[in-house]
Amino acid sequence: MISTGVFFNNICFLKLFLVAYRTDEGQPWVLPVVKKVEKIIVHDDRLNHEYLPILGLPEFRSSASKIALGDDSPAIQEDRVGAVQCLGGTGALKMGAEFLRRFYNGNNNTKTPVYVSAPTWENHNAVFANAGFDDVRPYKYWDAENRGLDLAGFLGDLESCPEHSIFVLHACAHNPTGTDPTQEQWMQIADIMMRRKLFVFFDSAYQGFASGSLEKDAWAVRYFVSMGFEMFCAQSFSKNFGLYNERVGNLTIVAQDADNLKRILSQMEKIVRTTWSNPPSQGARIVAITLNSPELFSEWKDNVKTMADRVLLMRAQLKAKLQALGTPGTWDHITEQIGMFSFTGLNSKQVEYMVKEKHIYLMASGRINMCGLTTKNIDYVAESIHETVTMVQ
Ligand SMILES: Cc1ncc(COP(=O)(O)O)c(C=O)c1O
Ligand SMILES: *[C@@H]1O[C@H](CO)[C@@H](O)[C@H](O)[C@H]1NC(C)=O
Ligand SMILES: *[C@@H]1O[C@H](CO)[C@@H](O)[C@H](O)[C@H]1NC(C)=O
Repeated sequence: MISTGVFFNNICFLKLFLVAYRTDEGQPWVLPVVKKVEKIIVHDDRLNHEYLPILGLPEFRSSASKIALGDDSPAIQEDRVGAVQCLGGTGALKMGAEFLRRFYNGNNNTKTPVYVSAPTWENHNAVFANAGFDDVRPYKYWDAENRGLDLAGFLGDLESCPEHSIFVLHACAHNPTGTDPTQEQWMQIADIMMRRKLFVFFDSAYQGFASGSLEKDAWAVRYFVSMGFEMFCAQSFSKNFGLYNERVGNLTIVAQDADNLKRILSQMEKIVRTTWSNPPSQGARIVAITLNSPELFSEWKDNVKTMADRVLLMRAQLKAKLQALGTPGTWDHITEQIGMFSFTGLNSKQVEYMVKEKHIYLMASGRINMCGLTTKNIDYVAESIHETVTMVQ
């Protein structure tokens, strides 16, 4: 008898390089609150498909800033916070980068160094380079040996870089390492950045995912605003609303004063006009309707927590299983890291072994998406890591 399944028998085709959330059944998840709001939109006969304003849907751009800054932010009360609705977090980074190249620290300035963490989401480099910055550099971040933050290296780079350099900071749930500074460490970072006149550009792509709490995950951004920084913050709603393909992002601009903000927004309008002219409405409506209704807002927070809790559970189980197996090495970093991603610490040879022998697909860097794990495959993954670490050094 010919067995057609000979090569594929028992193969667990596990894609741990995913970038999106998956349920315990391994499926994409449409948030229940999003389904509900989509129905509201369908039945609302007042809505139409006219162009949105260039800078975006007004109730999306200025709904009391419930998420990033908090609605009690002094900067908002001082009328120096504005926003541009963008195509995803990527679009927000792009608009911010284009603006900075044109107007930051001297007009048409391509020389100011832009620092991105080592390692970082790979698109950071390209977005800033394509916006015209000639000098995109890494700053020290990941300490491979200790599987944690290289704080001394990071602070050293903040001290030694040219004044006015631009720093892209991950607001929470650092991609790809899952390692964030603590509050005390953020304070040290902010002090140096203030003293050395460095520009803060937050990238907030996973708010809510790190801790399950929007407030906690916004701590760093709010702290920097309270320190009086002028700054940008690129917000993505792809992950925390599960609206990946709707391209919903928001570039928050914290300016020096109200007059300054007006000028910035008028230049932003020009940049948007020549990039996508005006933004799409569906995703922005879903987000704005949700945030502006107390009931829907609280339902959304529950949905976010459902996702975050599943990730936390998988982390706890993976660590417990590796420890129970007596897998060589320490595995505390699995639960110390937060957000969707984890740097397992597997080296490139071990990753190769996982792919070839165990058919578990992860990034060459050893990064896995915790959402690829489910209660059904976690034993297999833990046993595979155990075998790999034991067999391959
Ligand atoms: C760190 C980081 N920033 C920004 C983004 C962009 O998200 P969006 O899909 O909203 O453009 C991602 C998505 O993977 C990300 O990981
Ligand atoms: C976009 O940013 C502005 C400024 O921070 C804020 O007021 C608004 O609430 C944000 N929109 C969303 C949907 O978070
Ligand atoms: C901006 O700088 C680039 C590179 O130096 C140059 O090619 C371009 O002409 C400049 N544009 C303006 C408007 O000065």
